[in-house]
Amino acid sequence: MTNRLRLSAETTPWPLTTTGLPSPTKTPSSPTATGEDDLAVGGVRLAEIAATYGTPAYVLDEADVRARARAYRAALPEAEIAYAGKAFLCRAMISWIEAEGLSLDVCSGGELALACHVGFPPERIVLHGNAKTPRDVQDALAYGVGRVVVDSTYEITQLAVAAHAGHPQKVLIRVTPGVDAHTHKAVATGVEDQKFGFSLATGAAADAVRQVLHWQLADKPALELAGLHCHLGSQITSVDVFAEAARRLIALMAWIRDEYRVVVPELDLGGGHAVGYRDGDPDFDLDLYARTVRTVIAKACRQHRLPVPKLTVEPGRAIVARAGVTLYRVLTMKRIPGIRTFVAVDGGMSDNPRPALYGSAYTARLIGRASTAPTEPMTVVGRHCEAGDVIAHDLPLPADLRPGDLLAVPCTGAYQHSMASTYNQVCRPPVIAVRDGVARVLIRRETLEDLQARDVSL
Ligand code: LLP
Repeated sequence: MTNRLRLSAETTPWPLTTTGLPSPTKTPSSPTATGEDDLAVGGVRLAEIAATYGTPAYVLDEADVRARARAYRAALPEAEIAYAGKAFLCRAMISWIEAEGLSLDVCSGGELALACHVGFPPERIVLHGNAKTPRDVQDALAYGVGRVVVDSTYEITQLAVAAHAGHPQKVLIRVTPGVDAHTHKAVATGVEDQKFGFSLATGAAADAVRQVLHWQLADKPALELAGLHCHLGSQITSVDVFAEAARRLIALMAWIRDEYRVVVPELDLGGGHAVGYRDGDPDFDLDLYARTVRTVIAKACRQHRLPVPKLTVEPGRAIVARAGVTLYRVLTMKRIPGIRTFVAVDGGMSDNPRPALYGSAYTARLIGRASTAPTEPMTVVGRHCEAGDVIAHDLPLPADLRPGDLLAVPCTGAYQHSMASTYNQVCRPPVIAVRDGVARVLIRRETLEDLQARDVSL
């Protein structure tokens, strides 16, 4: 039983909201206090996890993931909820998603292979990618994925030729609706000037429709236009931008009906629902989204005399971000009087590149011992050879913080492990799942042997 840890479940709410950790109301199965100096997630003490599995380590609360999946289904019972696996993927995660009745959005042959490995129902898989490899396309066809989201004219031809004529592959056309979601430029995908999708404004989307319908209306159809798709970007707080995108895509559906007498049955509005990483950060209002999008779609369809299409949404971050906590050990500290105190931990931009990439803000708190010391601003940095290797700027941390202490950084379930690197030949942390007082390793810690195994020649 080296990878399992049994501890009793705790009941006291996690008193961490002042440091920015999610409140129990936001996080149904949120971490709980086990005493003044310790914290638990899923009934397992974080300090115990650090002692058993070492640091850095990602901890993932299974109940939280499942609760958020259920919340999406409850808020949008009429919709298909396709979890965007790029946020975090492993076999256990896929099985939780499947058990909760969600579909799965994959964006590479690798993500698809993992889904195949656990036998995820192919009809519930949506394949994305602006530049799919021939192998991605072959694998998708071989596995029989439900829908392929096509993103270029080359891909439409490639897919149609590879598909079995007479057994049409369902496709969604990825449309760039020209809606600015006011998010970080690196993750803004609804606007014209980026690599994804067919532009509505230039007529490229209409051309793509024509191209797909050519293959659909052939004697032996190779493609079937199952729907229109858009993804406006990530970490979006506004609901209005989704409403606007829905209106524009439904207008395109009406044009398709008028032009080709084809009714498009599905509208996929992508993901991008924001998560508050710290106390006070704006959160996405899922109920407002559900109400607004439902109303807007119904109204637009009435105006265009179209049947209401099936709605699909693709949340990634909103399902898994808050279920994650990363544990670090403090290795060293540097005080520059009058300027700043740096706290250096045993991880950094290799396990969390988001602050360096997007300027994302996180919080952290001391765990594993009680401290009554006053707090002072400290900047938590990693161990990598870059000044930009920062995990969190100017956090209030106890003045008696010292090497050997443990820090917990919440809200690290999405785009942390999935974007981790081995920069500086640093091994990637394990992912430890917790549930009902039991911890288990989902993904083991990477070893130097793992890294060196790829170095095959002198
Ligand atoms: N659907 C499509 C087609 C996507 O491209 C994405 C994310 C999603 C759904 C899910 O988006 P979410 O609900 O997780 O925001 N690495 C960045 C995020 C990149 C998102 C890429 N696409 C980050 O760490 O913030």
